[in-house]
Amino acid sequence: MRIVSGIQPTGNLHLGNYLGAIRNWVRMQDELVSTGGDCLFFLADLHAISMPHEPATLSANTREMVAALVACGIDPDRSTLFNQAQVPAHAELQWLLTGTARMGWLNRMTQFKDKSGKNREGASIALYTYPVLQAADVLLYQATHVPVGEDQKQHLELARDIAQKFNNDFASEAAPVFTLPDPIIPPEAARIMSLRDGSAKMSKSDPSDMSRINLTDDADTIMQKVKKAKTDPEPLPSEAAGLEGRAEAKNLVGIYAVMAQTSVDAVLADFAGKGFGAFKPALGELLVTKLAPINDRFVELRQDRAALDAILKKGAEKARTLAAPTLNAAYEALGLVRG
Ligand code: TYM
Repeated sequence: MRIVSGIQPTGNLHLGNYLGAIRNWVRMQDELVSTGGDCLFFLADLHAISMPHEPATLSANTREMVAALVACGIDPDRSTLFNQAQVPAHAELQWLLTGTARMGWLNRMTQFKDKSGKNREGASIALYTYPVLQAADVLLYQATHVPVGEDQKQHLELARDIAQKFNNDFASEAAPVFTLPDPIIPPEAARIMSLRDGSAKMSKSDPSDMSRINLTDDADTIMQKVKKAKTDPEPLPSEAAGLEGRAEAKNLVGIYAVMAQTSVDAVLADFAGKGFGAFKPALGELLVTKLAPINDRFVELRQDRAALDAILKKGAEKARTLAAPTLNAAYEALGLVRG
């Protein structure tokens, strides 16, 4: 079993990233040690240049994201933790796969439609080919499982389509070049929503910082954001079915349940009939308690830039070695002569 996943270093790690993906990365890393599998986690810095960006901010965010991931429990001694920019095989394999990926497949990608908005002509080529790089990220390492939030499901389906077509066109059934990866999406936290709008996902790109809880927020900020979160005037129901049609309430109760490692029904058993005036302080305190150790560790780790760079360097060395056989096999399958 080989787990591979990535995150863009485009800003703070937020509760959606943590509950939708990173918590699963840590769990899988801890479980895999005993079963002999391995984990690769990377910062998708090459993906980050698909949108307008400030170079100095990207470098700073890359190091901060390493600190945040280690603070969450990613152990660079047990997992391979690196950034794409130090492993050229990602960009190389992406190019090889662009011969297999079809325009029609990319045209269906909803993220490109969302991120390019009305200005499609002005969108970067990188934003369009983004999912092909993402396919390269996982196929390069023969990933069997890819832990992600719901919003990445379509990209992983594309990775499977690319792998399948490449294997069909350029390899024999007995010796495929690529493994078809399975996404792992946590059912209870697949899509954490914005605190300001229950119909939009919690996201780094939302201009309002009040829409998300950052893992680096201090206690006062967390309490304030939860207090200001959008809700409705109704009291909480006694069963999960009563939350249907109440997107904001459903999101907050869902966050409580995942953070407390219990079920939505168990949370509602405690809060049924109560209003948000009672629920919000309880949710705020739960978040503060659970996130404080991560925050403390992050603040300590982020100060040591040399240590963060050393983690990335060591991870990249391991990743380059692991990537080489598959990259070579892809070149060879395509008939490219390399001396
Ligand atoms: P990114 O950086 O947007 O998000 C990192 C991870 O967090 C999950 N996530 C969420 N989960 C639940 N609720 C939310 N509101 C929420 N917001 C984000 C994402 O699903 C993701 O798992 N394209 C990817 C990075 C990437 C990648 C890869 C992932 C590049 N190559 C290869 C997996 C495999 C991205 O931009 O994720």
